[in-house]
Amino acid sequence: MTNIHQESEMEQDREPVRMLGISGSLRKASFNTGLLRAAQEIVPDWVDFQIFDIRDIPFYDGDLEAEGDPASVVALKAAIQNAETVIFATPEYNWGTSGVLKNAIDWASRDRTEGSLMGKPVTIIGAGGRAGTARAQMQLLETLGETGSLVMVKPGLQVMAFGDQQFDGDGNLIGEKTRELLANHLNALVKWTMQIVRPHEFVAYACEMDTATAGV
Ligand SMILES: Cc1cc2nc3c(=O)[nH]c(=O)nc-3n(C[C@H](O)[C@H](O)[C@H](O)COP(=O)(O)O)c2cc1C
Repeated sequence: MTNIHQESEMEQDREPVRMLGISGSLRKASFNTGLLRAAQEIVPDWVDFQIFDIRDIPFYDGDLEAEGDPASVVALKAAIQNAETVIFATPEYNWGTSGVLKNAIDWASRDRTEGSLMGKPVTIIGAGGRAGTARAQMQLLETLGETGSLVMVKPGLQVMAFGDQQFDGDGNLIGEKTRELLANHLNALVKWTMQIVRPHEFVAYACEMDTATAGV
């Protein structure tokens, strides 16, 4: 990984940090899904990075919910429960996040049991037009605030996807600078997540990071 250091022996012994990526775009060549695929490549072996596809989630409907969660919603809630941290990659549609992502979060927010979005460390990244999804991210920040998630905002990643080609025709991230910024954000996310969910492992981990980044 660009900024996360090589694995040490201690890291090989560590239970993998479980990260979940959710893209707010359904299209095959999505830049946002591309960011998550790049994140999957960037993280070291001791981070288990899964991507959850929200395309099968139906529109939220209280009547449907009353009949019992559809299988896709059960799977979404389980994926969030299993993750120690969730990274949302949002496009920007008319200054907001996508309807499909908002809808998935609405379903997920109905789970108030342990491991749900309530109290879950999460973060937001995004790739879009000239504002780099900043407005969509602000809207999503409010929504996630209401779900009770703990949102890591800095260092942040807002990718202007169209100017100097950041993605290839299949939505794969090719911009080196963006890859570096993504790595920085992931770096901070792993550190912050460990601080919250594994406070007893955090000090040893932080010391290792310190040593590694000092080039010792
Ligand atoms: C309905 C719609 C509205 C959009 N509105 C905005 C917008 O307000 N701001 C922006 O930066 N880009 C806007 N875009 C462009 C998207 O950000 C762009 O298509 C982006 O690539 C979508 O993400 P994806 O590549 O992950 O599918 C809009 C696109 C669509 C389809």
